[in-house]
Amino acid sequence: MDTIQWFPGHMAKAMRKMEEALPMVDGVILILDARCPNACINDKLVKMFSFKPVLYVLNKADLADPVGLKRVTESFVKDKKQVVCIDAKSKKDISGLYGKIFELLKEKVERNKAKGYFKPVRIMVAGIPNTGKSTIINALVGGKKAQVGDKAGVTRSNQWVKLNELELLDTPGTMPPSFEDQVKAKHLAYVGCINDAIMDLSDLCLELIAELTLLYPDRLKERYRLTDLDKTPIEIYEDICQKRGFLIKGGDFDYERCATAVIDDLRSGKLGRVIFE
Ligand code: G4P
Repeated sequence: MDTIQWFPGHMAKAMRKMEEALPMVDGVILILDARCPNACINDKLVKMFSFKPVLYVLNKADLADPVGLKRVTESFVKDKKQVVCIDAKSKKDISGLYGKIFELLKEKVERNKAKGYFKPVRIMVAGIPNTGKSTIINALVGGKKAQVGDKAGVTRSNQWVKLNELELLDTPGTMPPSFEDQVKAKHLAYVGCINDAIMDLSDLCLELIAELTLLYPDRLKERYRLTDLDKTPIEIYEDICQKRGFLIKGGDFDYERCATAVIDDLRSGKLGRVIFE
């Protein structure tokens, strides 16, 4: 597979804007995809946030393998990170997140109370594209203020969403400045955090099949009615094409259509709940 390299200029600009806005906020919630949370972390951003309380939100927990997710969450706790796992589409989880935000800023809120004045808590919402920032903001404010469903990498500018006691600063998605770790880059691509248009989906699908053969062989077998995984990834890929009828005129395999179907199955949870870390 070709090296994944992607850092559009507008993202460098987005990071600068975030840095400028940081003095205005009391804390940060960093939204990560629960299926590859560490791959979603941009070290430069974390360094930038080091003087603010940060809550790591492992979102899309409904799509993540619960055993692996527990293990990853414990590693965050061990690293003294504040962490919460949520499904942004669950009301219960959103109210839990709301509580966690105030817990994160408890000292600040109490200090303000002691001084006798009311001030809303200001939070920056950060994270790479498609991790669920807009969905979370909409759920927290209980309306459709932020636009959902942006293409990975399509930037918006910083914007405030205000509630009574909470003000959220929505920031555009930012990517790691370089993909030194191509394994992490691949995981981000699987879950849809990298714009599909810049990748060869057939190559990505081949990588995904190889990884699923090791991590979740039974799911792969069950979903595509495969009997034998003791083959090379390309042979398994072709078996899936065959089983699904992804063929073109002349009987050749339609690798592209098959890639789209397999990647969609993964992203939508049809291959079950997964974790790549
Ligand atoms: P972003 O602002 O960080 O770019 O992400 P956004 O909220 O646009 O969410 C990206 C996609 O992920 C959306 O799906 C959204 O519905 C979905 N999503 C967000 N949080 C969760 C979650 O906790 N669980 C699951 N299963 N999905 C989640 P979409 O198909 O792009 O849009 P839509 O058709 O749902 O509107």
